[in-house]
Amino acid sequence: MTAGLSPADFVKRLDATADDTETLLAALLSDEVLPDEIARPKRVMEAMRYSSLGGGKRLRPFLVVESAAVFGVDRKAALLAGAALECIHCYSLIHDDLPAMDDSDLRRGRPTLHKVYDDATAILAGDGLLTLAFDIVTRDEIHRDPAVRLNLTRALARAAGIGGMVGGQMLDLAGEGRFGDTGPVDVARVQQMKTGALLRFGCISGAILGEASADDHRALDIFGRALGEAFQIADDLLDVEGDAATLGKETGQDAALGKTTFVTQLGVEGARQRVRDLLAQGDKALDRFGGRADVLRAAARFVAERKN
Ligand code: IPE
Ligand code: IPE
Ligand code: MG
Ligand code: MG
Ligand code: MG
Repeated sequence: MTAGLSPADFVKRLDATADDTETLLAALLSDEVLPDEIARPKRVMEAMRYSSLGGGKRLRPFLVVESAAVFGVDRKAALLAGAALECIHCYSLIHDDLPAMDDSDLRRGRPTLHKVYDDATAILAGDGLLTLAFDIVTRDEIHRDPAVRLNLTRALARAAGIGGMVGGQMLDLAGEGRFGDTGPVDVARVQQMKTGALLRFGCISGAILGEASADDHRALDIFGRALGEAFQIADDLLDVEGDAATLGKETGQDAALGKTTFVTQLGVEGARQRVRDLLAQGDKALDRFGGRADVLRAAARFVAERKN
């Protein structure tokens, strides 16, 4: 199946979802105190806005919106679920950049949050975004049926938590050898967890919201897993070959930290081939959707070819 969306049309669609996500996040991160909240302290709110607004490709919300579109789900509901996912992503980046983790100074073309504020504020801003995500994803506007909201919430928790992103970040740090681990690093496992899990959630959330059949859900699951792993390999390639100004973050960090990646294990060409293999797997899973999945196919191409 060849993709029926030109790269220019793809970028237009990605930008439109990024704009809508920006508007939504700005509202969700306003100073307005919600029922049952006591107050929203200014410093943590400003820090959360610093790391969540005005940057990022917004690929994860895009995957939610476009996987939802395959099943005719209301765009507003999908955008809200996408905003929740983006909150978790932004929190993961704040914590990933901390001195105790990757110790990065630049993110989305700007100084990292802990550089502008301080470590404690960065930790709390991350915690605030993580918690806000679960407030958002349970809201009535996400879906009329509470059982669907519950499924979505559980899937998000499992993607973000110990069996997903958090667990993967732990394995990523262990892979540096900082805890005395000396065994071989299962790079595929690290990638699937630290990065793949949230991207996979983006792809299956459409199936959850659209109450898709088990087979359709499985197809998006396969696509999401392949895209998620490919995305992190592309990120590792960009860390070696990319340009910091275009990327908006420092390059050469993985080597400096002694991370084990597919680039260190397979070399640049081997890693590129693995991206191609994964995306071919993902593409095949979308066959059953025909033209309805053209945008998702284009998203997979974007993941492989992106420069930032
Ligand atoms: C960066 O993710 C962190 C990884 C999981 C590799 P993105 O490349 O999607 O970052 P933004 O959101 O566009 O800044
Ligand atoms: C980050 O992986 C994964 C998460 C934040 C969960 P990286 O450490 O490679 O991401 P960058 O390169 O700093 O964006
Ligand atoms: Mg990291
Ligand atoms: Mg990092
Ligand atoms: Mg990286």
